[in-house]
Amino acid sequence: MQTTKISKINAQTKLCALIGNPVKHSMSPAMHNAAFDKLGLNIKYIALQVEENQLKQAIKGLKALNIIGLNITIPHKQKVMHHLDKVDLFAKKIGAVNTILNKNGKLHGFNTDLQGAIMSLEEHTVVKNKKVVILGAGGAARSIAFGLKQNKAKVIILNRTVKKAKKLAKQVGCSTMKLDQLDSIKADILINATSVGMHSNTDKSLATKEQLKNFEIVMDIVYNPLETKLIRLAKQAGCTTITGLKMLVLQAAASFEIWTGKKPDIKLMQKVALKKLGGTK
Ligand SMILES: NC(=O)c1ccc[n+]([C@@H]2O[C@H](COP(=O)([O-])OP(=O)(O)OC[C@H]3O[C@@H](n4cnc5c(N)ncnc54)[C@H](OP(=O)(O)O)[C@@H]3O)[C@@H](O)[C@H]2O)c1
Repeated sequence: MQTTKISKINAQTKLCALIGNPVKHSMSPAMHNAAFDKLGLNIKYIALQVEENQLKQAIKGLKALNIIGLNITIPHKQKVMHHLDKVDLFAKKIGAVNTILNKNGKLHGFNTDLQGAIMSLEEHTVVKNKKVVILGAGGAARSIAFGLKQNKAKVIILNRTVKKAKKLAKQVGCSTMKLDQLDSIKADILINATSVGMHSNTDKSLATKEQLKNFEIVMDIVYNPLETKLIRLAKQAGCTTITGLKMLVLQAAASFEIWTGKKPDIKLMQKVALKKLGGTK
């Protein structure tokens, strides 16, 4: 069996970390450590569980310890912005940061979910002028909606809680419809940015096969399971499909580039994540 050579930790080793709660099922340490090793970079990535009331102290500590890069996950993506020296324009618009660069002791915040989603779509199409339906109005839907708007797509948001859809649509500058109006929509792309279909809820899909026949491309950002019910139905409906694994890997690759200035081996990161998720391809 082929094994990955893990470089040694020594006095020059630099550190990157994920902070969130929970973090123990994160794919990020495996993906980033493999990519650092592949490029021969003396950097290691660890996952740190941080309670909500410990965020300020954690950020101070990480700054003092000169951790070079951070990923931020639930529940800290919004609140962490108060502790940064500078926040990228789009992360500010989205209102959430998932990546921090510690540059000469100054913390700069970014949101790479946006790039992860757009790059996943752009492997299959040009999003400019495309009509895109987003299911969901939570944190991930926010990043995707702003990303699509920035790339001049025509976005429609559908969410279970209509009030949240309207609020997000107003901020982004796009339209909304109700989930039960999905039957009447024909568009280029449909994106599931809700948690429906994820592990422990795998028999659910917000769209039927008949409804999916009205879309060219269907992307599900849920990555566990690797193939959700929505993706299965979309394949049966003849759509081009994009799984959540792609966005997961591409947002990680964008963070890697921010920290190191280098492009990681994306195929390797995907292989590592796929293995952790129990996939074979
Ligand atoms: N692939 C990736 O890189 C990536 C990145 C980020 C997130 N994700 C995945 O994306 C999903 C959403 O994450 P998030 O951070 O946006 O979560 P979030 O902020 O909690 O938002 C959850 C969204 O799902 C909707 N929802 C939940 N249960 C529903 C149901 N039974 N029926 C209809 N709508 C329902 C919510 O609607 P209401 O507003 O009505 O509650 C809300 O719009 C998660 O599964 C997460 O793992 C993947």
